Amino acid sequence: MNGLHVAIIMDGNGRWARSRRKPRWRGHLAGVDSVRDVVRAAPDLGVRTLTLYAFSSDNWKRPPTEVGRLFWLLREYCARERDELLANGVRLTAIGRRDRIPASALRALEAVEQVTAGGTTLDLRLAIDYSARAAITTATKTLARRVARGELRVDALTDRELNDAITGGVPAPDLLIRTAGERRLSDFMLWELAYTELYFETATWPEFGRSHLEHALADFRRRERRFGAAGPKEQTVPASAVAEAVGAVG
Ligand code: FPP
Repeated sequence: MNGLHVAIIMDGNGRWARSRRKPRWRGHLAGVDSVRDVVRAAPDLGVRTLTLYAFSSDNWKRPPTEVGRLFWLLREYCARERDELLANGVRLTAIGRRDRIPASALRALEAVEQVTAGGTTLDLRLAIDYSARAAITTATKTLARRVARGELRVDALTDRELNDAITGGVPAPDLLIRTAGERRLSDFMLWELAYTELYFETATWPEFGRSHLEHALADFRRRERRFGAAGPKEQTVPASAVAEAVGAVG
């Protein structure tokens, strides 16, 4: 399964609306157009997996009318985009808690998940009622139960088991984009982002479209990813040589 995994923190809907003297929900409405643009553009630009932060578990703290509008938009998105997603080979899935999603939105979401399950062009993952800390906690509990049942020895527990329990085997994002000039992770994919390249965009989410994604990916492709290793020109040395060098310094 080749292709990049791009994750996006869609921010600035409220600011977009305020600067146009519109109510906040109009910013979210305009944000849905950006979602559509980016989903259409992603496969052409080499993106195979796209994770969008649509509703964080902390977003429940917003006024009920705004929360209600957001779930209404989710329901409408699922109902209206369903045929296009299916025709374009997009597989839509949600990550996060499902038990608090309003029933009609959940029904629409699960119907699209079911109908698009065979899509192979783009994996579109919507993070809804999502918290990375909660995801890590849930994964830890799952592993703890396996240990308690005697299925897993504590000593055999490595970051690989934890990774699989947290991510379900989905590769980590290559690139994280956050819009509207903020430079925070806001409880998004904290485990997965360990070696992800970060890109901060000043445009708000409703302003963001194909050209912004192209720009972010061009910037990403110019970067050298080392995952903690030395650059390609540096020689890899055996551990014994490292011990010797440390001894010489000490
Ligand atoms: C952040 O902007 C955005 C959100 C909390 C919601 C994102 C939702 C959408 C783009 C629409 C629904 C999505 C789908 C997939 C149907 P903000 O309100 O925090 O902006 P502000 O920081 O400027 O106030």
